[in-house]
Amino acid sequence: MLEQNALHQKILDYIDNKIYNQVPVKSYHKKVHQNGNSCELCHGSSEPVTPADTANCANCHGSPEAVAELTKELEPNPHNSPHWETELPCDSCHMEHSESKSVCKQCHQFGFKTP
Ligand code: HEC
Ligand code: HEC
Ligand code: HEC
Ligand code: HEC
Repeated sequence: MLEQNALHQKILDYIDNKIYNQVPVKSYHKKVHQNGNSCELCHGSSEPVTPADTANCANCHGSPEAVAELTKELEPNPHNSPHWETELPCDSCHMEHSESKSVCKQCHQFGFKTP
């Protein structure tokens, strides 16, 4: 938890100093982040930064149903669970600025490795 708060503070400092390109993102998003002007792609606006709206993920990754199709071979499919089907917000599992997790882990041991 302490680490999370430290990270949060660091990001806020980067925002204050307008050094957006220092905000850590996932390696797979480096390309979209490159110039540091990427905040609005997920957050909807860059100043001030509003909470990430994971509906914006669909602009590049397609609908939740399309994402579920990518992992349909997995048993169970993290993108289509019997509890919520395809309706879980992406950041229930995919973090952007820190290590990803799996909400299923609260109750199951599926061994998902969330990128
Ligand atoms: C690819 C999508 C994406 C991009 C690009 C992105 N974010 Fe985020 N951001 C998220 C998600 C998802 C969360 C919630 C999960 C997390 O904290 O990682 C988040 C959380 C945050 C938080 C809250 C952190 C916390 O833990 O309290 C801040 C502040 C933030 N982002 C700032 C930024 C800034 C500034 C930029 C641009 C330099 C940026 N983000 C770019 C997706 C993104
Ligand atoms: C501006 C477009 C864009 C947005 C917005 C975006 N992404 Fe991505 N994402 C990409 C690209 C490009 C890649 C890299 C694809 C590749 O390497 O084939 C990627 C890769 C990923 C991967 C890794 C896929 C893998 O093969 O391991 C995940 C997971 C992911 N994105 C989740 C998200 C989530 C969750 C959000 C919303 C918070 C989001 N993305 C928002 C463009 C975007
Ligand atoms: C319950 C946790 C969870 C949620 C919620 C979740 N993901 Fe994932 N995601 C995963 C896991 C686990 C993987 C890795 C699957 C594997 O092992 O191949 C993954 C993989 C991916 C990939 C790469 C798929 C591939 O094989 O090319 C993309 C893209 C992605 N997620 C995007 C999203 C988006 C967009 C959302 C929101 C609509 C989302 N995810 C919601 C857990 C989740
Ligand atoms: C709050 C606890 C909780 C969380 C979080 C949770 N589950 Fe479950 N899940 C359960 C319980 C309890 C059962 C057993 C229900 C039953 O068998 O009647 C179950 C059953 C299942 C089953 C078997 C259902 C069947 O019909 O055989 C699958 C598959 C499953 N969960 C997937 C997931 C996935 C994927 C996630 C994450 C996206 C997840 N669960 C998150 C509590 C949870």
